[in-house]
Amino acid sequence: MTVRPATGTLRSEAAFERAKLVTPGGVNSPVRAFRSVGGTPRFIASSSGAYLYDVDGNELVDLVCSWGPMLLGHAHPDVIGAVADAAARGTSYGAPTLAEVDLAAEIIDRMPVEQVRLVNSGTEATMSVLRLARGVTGRDKIIKFAGCYHGHVDALLAAAGSGVATLSIPGTPGVTDATIADTIVVGYNDRDAVRDAFTSFGDEIAAVITEAAPGNMGVIPPGTEDGIGFNAFLVGIAHDHGALLISDEVMTGFRVSRSGQFGLDGVRPDLMTFGKVMGGGFPAAAFGGRADLMQNLAPVGTVYQAGTLSGNPLATTAGLVTLRLATQEVYEQIDRTAAQLRAEVRAALAAAGVPHVIQNAGNLFSVFFVAEGVTAVPDYATATQQSTAAYAAFFHSMLRSGVYLPPSAYEAWFLSAAHDDRAVNRIVDALPAAAAAASASG
Ligand SMILES: Cc1ncc(COP(=O)(O)O)c(C=O)c1O
Repeated sequence: MTVRPATGTLRSEAAFERAKLVTPGGVNSPVRAFRSVGGTPRFIASSSGAYLYDVDGNELVDLVCSWGPMLLGHAHPDVIGAVADAAARGTSYGAPTLAEVDLAAEIIDRMPVEQVRLVNSGTEATMSVLRLARGVTGRDKIIKFAGCYHGHVDALLAAAGSGVATLSIPGTPGVTDATIADTIVVGYNDRDAVRDAFTSFGDEIAAVITEAAPGNMGVIPPGTEDGIGFNAFLVGIAHDHGALLISDEVMTGFRVSRSGQFGLDGVRPDLMTFGKVMGGGFPAAAFGGRADLMQNLAPVGTVYQAGTLSGNPLATTAGLVTLRLATQEVYEQIDRTAAQLRAEVRAALAAAGVPHVIQNAGNLFSVFFVAEGVTAVPDYATATQQSTAAYAAFFHSMLRSGVYLPPSAYEAWFLSAAHDDRAVNRIVDALPAAAAAASASG
């Protein structure tokens, strides 16, 4: 293993001080600020394959992968080449392009959707899909699950995961009571709570929205009861009451299999949202579903939705090349790497006597530093019991060894096809010290 000698963090520290003067918290998305693990975020200068290079000259094995998009690794030459070609032809036209149609067709080929509309972010996708669900059902209420994060849509920030969980923000000032009055929040995997909500508000509920497999409160796979998976239960109960199931595959889509979580559990929702991998590292996302529902969107129908940069030619090019390169072999390779890492992390933590639970949805996984005796984390309430101090100690030890983990205990670890033996060996070598640090933290 060759670890490039660390040159410290002075440049990142100076950049962070400067950044804090010009933008709140010095970052453009809260979790990047390292608040829950402490210390200074690394400012990144460049990336390649499995590695990030910070402005201080450190080489870091990246287990964040831009929070999911970089399935093929950073700066994949085919993606960069295609984007450079596209950029030379112009960066935005405000008129239809062939690449948009090709990307939509690729998504439809992989996912149980008949039509899609391209947007710029996962947030925009979930915001738009809620409007559509409400528009077609004529109902206002939605059910969401505590700890699921669907972007910073006002109605969906109630008991949200990701940065909201990381920063322990109970609710968000600026979101009106009226906006969240129609949001019913229930515990993930809690079937009785879902039944109760439908019993109380059945004919007012437009949709249930769920992460296909939650990854924003740590990874919490949908549970199975009497042979029926949670997603299958949700689609059944929603349809019994004339409501829709919206499956948010922004994180899992095109990542946990070529067809996302749908590829693992086969549950067909009415509407879906996508993002991250399908943009190949550019701002692109989508929502889609049954044609009879999607046909309610303007200009065919009356539910309005639009975007100046939607279907941007650089983003659609990057997404299309990424998806076309994301073959079955790529998924199998990432699955193998993920399984190996889960086993290595488990062994290192066990050797250091650190109580933990590792959960996964396909190749997406995370580690919970739980209390002794806890064997599973089925919901957000349990996730919040984990030791974030242990995670912080573990995180910083890994960082000192040249491994960049998500700077929050509530986030999934993301791998790419570029995580080869060299990268994996660096991670494995770093684990004993990190496990010892976690052990010493509490
Ligand atoms: C499941 C899920 N939905 C929606 C979003 C929001 O996507 P974006 O950050 O692109 O707005 C995220 C972001 O992490 C996500 O994980």
